Amino acid sequence: MSDQTFQTLGEFIIDKQEDFKYSTGELSRLISAIRLASKVVNREVNKAGIANIIGQAGNQNIQGEDQQKLDVLANNIFIEALSQREVVCGIASEESDDFIEIKATNNAHLSKYVVLIDPLDGSSNIDVNVSVGTIFSIYRRVTEPGTPVQMEDFLQKGIKQVAAGYVVYGSSTMIVYTTGNGVNGFTLDPSIGTYYLSHPNMKIPTSGKIYSINEGNYIKFPQGVKDYIKYCQLEEDDRPYTSRYIGSLVSDFHRNMIKGGIYIYPSTSHSPKGKLRLLYECNPMAFLAEQAGGKCSDGYRRILEIQPTELHQRVPFFCGSAAMVTKAEEFMTKAV
Ligand code: AHG
Ligand code: MN
Ligand code: MN
Ligand code: MN
Repeated sequence: MSDQTFQTLGEFIIDKQEDFKYSTGELSRLISAIRLASKVVNREVNKAGIANIIGQAGNQNIQGEDQQKLDVLANNIFIEALSQREVVCGIASEESDDFIEIKATNNAHLSKYVVLIDPLDGSSNIDVNVSVGTIFSIYRRVTEPGTPVQMEDFLQKGIKQVAAGYVVYGSSTMIVYTTGNGVNGFTLDPSIGTYYLSHPNMKIPTSGKIYSINEGNYIKFPQGVKDYIKYCQLEEDDRPYTSRYIGSLVSDFHRNMIKGGIYIYPSTSHSPKGKLRLLYECNPMAFLAEQAGGKCSDGYRRILEIQPTELHQRVPFFCGSAAMVTKAEEFMTKAV
């Protein structure tokens, strides 16, 4: 670090408490618990190669994916940090079949918040030392406080999010989050275990030159996506664009957020709803993108306005620089 004075995430959370609408400190404590859990996961990710935590755990999650050891470990770390501190009344996770109800001990006041989480995003990249991440999404419960949390507390539209963010365990580790007043990014100084505000008020450029999509699936894409890819590759105006695809949503999103670009995970002939999960991946990223001036849709509709019907629901995802997403939507509509 230079001798420039950076604000720490801890200081930032206290300063911004008035933004949290209901400033009882509950949301501050919740974000602090996520901050702590992310440091523990960061430690595990960093030593993965020597700690025998690389590779498959030997079971599948409810979505039919082979769970990696770090998927399970990260899931346990976040669930433990959030439940032991009693900062949420319920948790839903990509790696857990059902939502988890958190009960208050000693008649303590139970939080009014629920968290939905992708504890380890990009887990196919763990074994090859490529950046992975965590994505989280926070809502206020809709059912009566003090009663057991219900499915409807989790199945809320993305526009109802109170906060959302991600952690990228990259060449440096960052936490990027919003509470609905813009997006701020904090970089971890690993030597002292403190996050510093390194990217205040992040904005996605309106347009960019990067498109991110798994082109190996080209043959299975809808015609509108095929047409848009060809448009990206045309030698015209500021094109062809550059193709960049890491295969970790968090890392692909983070790069596009800083440089400008579009990320697409469309429906395919094999997976008509695409691959990404509405509640753990798309809604939090859409909230962040919009707060940074970007745009997210399923090709036709705003992601944040989709009414979820099940926890592990998937949705096609077009996300990033506003002008690029609008252009891709035009191709989708034209091809119908
Ligand atoms: P997860 O590791 O949480 O299951 O998420 C994987 C997701 C996302 O991170 C990434 O963008 C996408 O899957 C990659 O999928 P393909 O390998 O099909 O491109
Ligand atoms: Mn997974
Ligand atoms: Mn994921
Ligand atoms: Mn995951």
